[in-house]
Amino acid sequence: MSRIVYVNGEFVAEENAVVSVFDRGFLFADAVYEVSSVLEGKLIDNDAHLKRLRRSLGELRIPSPATDEEIIRVQHELIDRNQLQEGLIYLQATRGCADRDFAFPANPSAGLVMFSQAKTLIEAPQARQGIAIITVPDIRWKRRDIKTVGLLAQVMAKQAAKDAGVSDAWMVEDGFVTEGSSNNAFIVDANGKLITRHLGNEILPGITRASVLELVEQENIVFEERSFTVDEAMNASEAFITSATTFVWPVVEIDGVKIGTGKPGVFAPKLREFYLKNSLARAE
Ligand code: PDD
Repeated sequence: MSRIVYVNGEFVAEENAVVSVFDRGFLFADAVYEVSSVLEGKLIDNDAHLKRLRRSLGELRIPSPATDEEIIRVQHELIDRNQLQEGLIYLQATRGCADRDFAFPANPSAGLVMFSQAKTLIEAPQARQGIAIITVPDIRWKRRDIKTVGLLAQVMAKQAAKDAGVSDAWMVEDGFVTEGSSNNAFIVDANGKLITRHLGNEILPGITRASVLELVEQENIVFEERSFTVDEAMNASEAFITSATTFVWPVVEIDGVKIGTGKPGVFAPKLREFYLKNSLARAE
């Protein structure tokens, strides 16, 4: 059975799904996206993802392609039609189609594409084993708080990681870690304090990051939102990443330097378990 995807108001078999060559998402990366994970056929943290989508659209003045209710209906229909138990729903909203011109079209009609992707999330081996990463210069634009599909810097970062035989890359600017190529970066210092970069235009406000910090606060774990250096990360007792598709994965090696014992510590696996329990209880 071929996958059913959603393209501008219609559910179609993936081999018949097409978008226009004039779509501004294609021509200018004039589009935003969201990725919501699916566990047990339910959407995780979806309300927060849709809230961030609204913000991204607003910052770029892209017209809303659908209401939240319509988007949620399509998300569930994709889950049902594709019998998705575990994986993700990808959503991309573009400024629509028009002859190529940098400035906004006069009467834009926003485009909306959504599809499901099956993926093993809970039993991902990286969660158990941890991942090795490299660091790369952060060469992205200055509005990284907007979740745009302009992801070429991250494509290059992930490929550099692959070429180096590791799983991912953390991006570095002015000596400080900004975030992972598709995730937020955390470290735990020698006193057990959790540190992750403060929000701002320099990083994406991760939904998983926010949920994890909420749990951390509830548990009275000490944490600080501030920049940290690669050196600090290398000397941390633990490091980890968060995102919709990884939840929490330990980072056990940075640029060939082992973090802590070089094995996942206690903190990240516990947070992952805690996050999964909590988010599943809230899943819709
Ligand atoms: N990426 N930072 C960046 C640059 C990201 O691309 C992502 C997510 C995150 C984590 O955000 P969240 O917790 O809301 O998933 C942080 C998604 C998963 C992707 O591009 O596939």
